[in-house]
Amino acid sequence: MNTHLMTFQNTSIVLGEGLRQSVLLEDACKTSSIVLIADENIAELYGKEMQSYLQSSSKEVYLLTFPPGEASKSRATKEKLEDQMQKKGLGRDTTLIGIGGGVTTDLAGFIASTYCRGIPLILMPTSLLGMVDASIGGKTGVNTPYGKNLIGTFYLPETLIIDFDFLVSLPKEGIEEGLVEVIKMALTSDKKLFDEMEKAGESLLKLDKPLKRIIKRACEIKLEVISTDFEEKKGMRRILNFEHTVGHALEKFFNYQMPHGTAVAIGIIAESFIACELELLKRTYFNRIVKLLKPLAPCKQFDLREVYDYMILDKKSQDQLPRFVLIDNIGHVLAFNDDYCTLVEEDVVLNALQFIQEI
Ligand SMILES: NC(=O)c1ccc[n+]([C@@H]2O[C@H](COP(=O)([O-])OP(=O)(O)OC[C@H]3O[C@@H](n4cnc5c(N)ncnc54)[C@H](O)[C@@H]3O)[C@@H](O)[C@H]2O)c1
Repeated sequence: MNTHLMTFQNTSIVLGEGLRQSVLLEDACKTSSIVLIADENIAELYGKEMQSYLQSSSKEVYLLTFPPGEASKSRATKEKLEDQMQKKGLGRDTTLIGIGGGVTTDLAGFIASTYCRGIPLILMPTSLLGMVDASIGGKTGVNTPYGKNLIGTFYLPETLIIDFDFLVSLPKEGIEEGLVEVIKMALTSDKKLFDEMEKAGESLLKLDKPLKRIIKRACEIKLEVISTDFEEKKGMRRILNFEHTVGHALEKFFNYQMPHGTAVAIGIIAESFIACELELLKRTYFNRIVKLLKPLAPCKQFDLREVYDYMILDKKSQDQLPRFVLIDNIGHVLAFNDDYCTLVEEDVVLNALQFIQEI
């Protein structure tokens, strides 16, 4: 059954099954032309059939594709896709539908926000990470040789359609990666969700009721957080940066070859270790976090000093020292004067890095 979750600003958010060929999708497309943007995998799996479906309502529907992967989240891909749209004579009377993982929703959102100074956008995330995180909150963007997501906009879709059926084709690693993000949200915002995930265990790997329930809850949490601080001008949205100081430094150290979900899982353990060492977080809670995440955080050897130095590049750093978002309970982040992050002694950080090499 489909659920209308809520309307956030002007975005209508719907979760359910069978939505990729539905009256709901047709009704959401109010313009005479439609552009579907998908990576080549998703175009094959779903894009072509969606194009035929939408064409049956006598609209002009184009499917534009790009190679899958993070490397495509670039200014070059954006330009190529925009040129293809212009060549087809598409103007403001065009709805852009981004179908895919976070790479597609970020890229499609960015294109929609600047094409003819903004055209209607529909997002249909297909990866679990896309459903619970990337498609929610209006952040769009591309990477540059200098870093990730350095160029982009805040732009909300008119409609966000989360069709659980897409998950059928997602490999197990994709589900695990998304689950790590949900565990992170539970740790910062919802103890009940963490308890539920602990209990559900491996059953969350199946496309069944427990997984659908936690996707819905994760969407609600992300919406709650961003609604307090949509354009990241205050501190609250910073709680989404939990694990980033360690996680991003590891991703950089491994030259972005470490799976993102692994970096997130290790980052959560390391930053929870710091909170535990500082006697902010109870050891029993820390042990539960390690138990839940350990299978998703395979042990990796790395140079502690080099990873520490990468942490200083984090955007939260102050006076050349890394800062951390810390939890003091499962489901709660410490405010630190509404900054939601704090400096931590170097030896505590190095101990945390040592710990994650040993678990
Ligand atoms: N905008 C935000 O707030 C935000 C938040 C978190 C992450 N992100 C971004 O999201 C991106 C990562 O997202 P991702 O992990 O979804 O990456 P992705 O879009 O590259 O998808 C990963 C792979 O899975 C495939 N795939 C996706 N859905 C599938 C399905 N249903 N069946 C089979 N294969 C499928 C894709 O083709 C791709 O090969 C990063 O660029 C990150 O920066 C953005």
